Amino acid sequence: MGCTVVAGAFWGDEGKGKVISYLALKDKVDICVRTGSVNAAHTVHFQGKRYALHMVPATFVYDKCRLLIGSGANVEVPQFLREVKETGVKDRIGVDKQTSIIEPHHSAMDKRDSYLKSIGTTGRGVGPAVQERAKRSAKLAKDVPELKPFLADVAEEVNAAIDADKIVVLEGTQGLMLSLYHGSYPYVTSRDTSAAAICSESGVGPSRVNTVLVVYKAFITRVGAGDLPGELSKEEAVRRGWFETAAGTGRERRSAPFNFDLARRVAKIHGATEAAVTKLDILYPSCKNSTSYAQLPQEAKNFIVKVEQAIAVPVTVIGTGPDALDIIDRRGYL
Ligand code: IMP
Ligand code: MG
Repeated sequence: MGCTVVAGAFWGDEGKGKVISYLALKDKVDICVRTGSVNAAHTVHFQGKRYALHMVPATFVYDKCRLLIGSGANVEVPQFLREVKETGVKDRIGVDKQTSIIEPHHSAMDKRDSYLKSIGTTGRGVGPAVQERAKRSAKLAKDVPELKPFLADVAEEVNAAIDADKIVVLEGTQGLMLSLYHGSYPYVTSRDTSAAAICSESGVGPSRVNTVLVVYKAFITRVGAGDLPGELSKEEAVRRGWFETAAGTGRERRSAPFNFDLARRVAKIHGATEAAVTKLDILYPSCKNSTSYAQLPQEAKNFIVKVEQAIAVPVTVIGTGPDALDIIDRRGYL
């Protein structure tokens, strides 16, 4: 299993949190590095509780997993401290000393700036904080007294774990279509979201990665402005059961059917070696909570085969419900 990068396919909200929490429990992940920032919320349903995590890695559900936030990430200190308390992970979480800090004036600017408003940002201050970092004037984790007990050298730790054949996950946030470089610019986030960038933010070189698991959802959603090919009306989305609201901001998500051409492009740029498809039960309700591929209805299997043909890598993980364990796991069988 070695080192796995988990990356999002389209405009985020594919269910990376759920897939990562499953991997944590099933594979007993030793160490996980979260990238990105508080604009992303990873939803985890575990033991009857729902978590919307903006900072703490989704692998926290496995109580022996070491949790880290990479040097390329951006930390909002009050949010971080709240989540550390909520998940009870204070003794096993670390923040790289060089991770940059989102300050109150960054979110104020994100909410006030009319251009950023027209992009439909989450207003969490990530873009303005990244701007400040690029200017070389950002505050870093090592400058924040509340973060002192958590400071770590993430690149050292994660590379030592890889050297020791530990099970490592690099947790991506958002999806490739929100990438600053490869997405639907200017309607994108303020960082590259590709698998290569997830490695870079964590301090892991490309030769050290064994698996690039790209997470697709069985249909597409997007929040904020920008084109969405094949977009449905809200009424149609509700009728199909595809209507969602954002885990972080509560905004309504726009939706569209799965896009096979885009899926192919995304797999190439991420360098996918495997894929996950989540929410198959929303397209085919009889799949709900299934853990067996053989028992899926033929039309659901046909959909998975069509995805595999488009992206040219196997779909090894299939989501069939919200709980971390509502998964069909075909890894090792294909
Ligand atoms: P920002 O990342 O807050 O600057 O927002 C830029 C664009 O990325 C907006 O369209 C946001 O809705 C979108 N975005 C940022 N983070 C996420 C996410 O985690 N899920 C979905 N969309 C996101
Ligand atoms: Mg999300």
